[in-house]
Parts: sequence; structure tokens; C-alpha cells
Amino acid sequence: MPSISVTPWGNSPAGPVERFTLTNDSGNSISVLSYGAIIQSIRMDGQEMILGYDDLSGYLGEYPYYGALVGRYGNRIAGARFALDGTTYVLDANENANQLHGGSVGFNRHPWQVEQTTTEDSATVMLSRISPDGEMGFPGNLRVSCSYAWTNDNTLRIHYTATTDKDTIVNLTNHAYFSIGGGGRSVLDQMLRLDADRYTPVDAQQIPTGQLTEVAGTPFDFRVAKAVGKDIASDHPQIARAGGYDHNWAINGYDGSLREFALLSDPVSGRSLRCFTTEPGVQVFTTNFTPGEFTVRDGAPVQPHTGICLETQHFPDSPNQANFQTPLLKVGDTYNTTTVYRFE
Ligand code: GAL
Repeated sequence: MPSISVTPWGNSPAGPVERFTLTNDSGNSISVLSYGAIIQSIRMDGQEMILGYDDLSGYLGEYPYYGALVGRYGNRIAGARFALDGTTYVLDANENANQLHGGSVGFNRHPWQVEQTTTEDSATVMLSRISPDGEMGFPGNLRVSCSYAWTNDNTLRIHYTATTDKDTIVNLTNHAYFSIGGGGRSVLDQMLRLDADRYTPVDAQQIPTGQLTEVAGTPFDFRVAKAVGKDIASDHPQIARAGGYDHNWAINGYDGSLREFALLSDPVSGRSLRCFTTEPGVQVFTTNFTPGEFTVRDGAPVQPHTGICLETQHFPDSPNQANFQTPLLKVGDTYNTTTVYRFE
């Protein structure tokens, strides 16, 4: 039967942090922090599957959201503002004049309450907090929960819920940098299939232009599996601008039900990651940092393209883009989304 162990993991400015390690019957595990609802580690066959830090200090400093729960709004909001019911809400701007990933003190920088449960087939931690009215500029007291279930078939099931007492916007995602080859190897030789006919091109500040452009004939076409690195050095202006992939794809057939949208496979280890979501979009980010810009486990400088994020979400800047699905959460409704990553 899967089990959960809890260990003290240092102190954040808001108090002591605990690490919850969920281990399944095969001995594979995920570790989750009560700070930031961060997935700190995923271990398969004794190997590390995500980028991250080995102690809390990395997560308290400037870091690129390794494994974090991103909210209240994952991705960018242009001009750090949006209008709702005739009111313009001015948000905390933390990237140029825009907001990225919920502002300078996002959901990844708060303590979360944790409840744990186990069944015959799974171990689950449910993390909750109330994001107060006005936090980072967002309206409404938001009661938010995120559960991470880890099953005997090596599946991570993430389920988010939220309710509000004022109409607001919500877009929650997890920012794991998958490195399924283990040991921080490059992802460029890994094969990626993405079930998406279109993506949302961006301007120089990575704000969507509003178009939904066909991937056919472009480096963005992953409808048939191809190596992540095959077109990553293309002179396509969208790729050149981002130094690789850092774009949102529109998942085919979105209807709010759970659907498979991606398969990432590592030809060396034979390991795959199969991905499902109820969300309309996925930001694929190929860790386009300059060498040494951030560190990873043991303080080693992170090398570019040693992780790949598959951040499920509503499209970037959706509060300001009339032709994108709305991230609106109304009083009385429940935000309810699921994303599943299955190791095979
Ligand atoms: C991604 C974003 C990137 C970068 C990264 C965190 O979601 O699209 O541009 O900001 O997060 O460093």
C-alpha cells in the first residue's frame, strides 16, 4: 500500500516547512513541500525526473518556479491589468509592465495547509490556502485547494479547485521541469508529440498577439512525434525571440473533459511521460536559460534545455483577449481542473 512520510524541511519567513514524500508500491515517489505547494522531487527507478533544489533556500530566493504551483494566474497578463464588471483591476507587475505567474509574491511563495490520505492504490496530499481579496491586485477571497495523488501505476494526478466571494479570474498550473532521462540530461533528443493544430504567437514581451496560428509547416508542428531539439535553433522569429520554445499551444478538441494531449519519450531510458488535461492550452517551455543563470540540485549551474515544462492552462493574457476562453470565476461557481502526468 502506498505510504506518506513527513520530514521537517527548514523555515520560510512564514514558519516551518514540511516535506511530504508519497511512495508507491514500486518504490517510486514524489515529494511535495508545504511551502508553495512545490513538487520538489519525482523519483522513478532511483532517478530524479524534475529540476529543483535539495534544500529550501533555493525555493526562497529567485528561482524559475521549479515544480511550483503557479497562481492566482499562471502566465502573463498584459499591462498587469484587466477589466471585469466595469472595474479595472491593477495587478502587481513583475515582468516589464506585465504580470507573470501571479505577481512578485505568487502562490509559490506562501505556506499551504496539508491533509494526507492513502488508499490501496494511491497516496494523496491536499494543499489549501485562502488567497485574500486584493492579493497581488486580484479581487475576491479565493479559497483554493490543490491535490497531488501519486498512484501505483506511476501517475501524478493534479486536481485544483477554487471558490470566490467576488467575481475574479483564476488560472492555476504546475511548473515542473521534466527531465525524464534522469540526472538533468538534455531534453533535445527526447521525442515530443503534441495534439495541437494551432498555437498562440507572441509579441516581443511574450504577450499573445491574439492570433491562433496553424502549426503546419512551422517548427511548432509536433502533431507527429519529433525530437524536441529538431527545430529549436530555427530562425523562425517566434523561436529566435524566445531562444527555443516558450509558447502556448491550443489543445485539439478542448471541451473541458480530461483528454490526452502530449507524449514525451526518452529514447535512451525508454521512459515516457503521457499527459492529460481538462485545460485548453499548454505552455511548452524548453528551459531556455543562459548557462548558469540558475542553479539546480547540489547548487550546480543549470544548463539550457535540461528540462521541459508542460504547463497546462488557459491561454496567456486570456482576461484581455476576447477570442480566448475566459478564466473568469464567478461567485457561486467552482473552479475545477485536472492535469495528469503518467510515467510509462
Ligand atoms: C514560463 C514562462 C517563461 C519563463 C518561465 C519561468 O512559464 O513562459 O517565459 O518566465 O516560466 O522562468
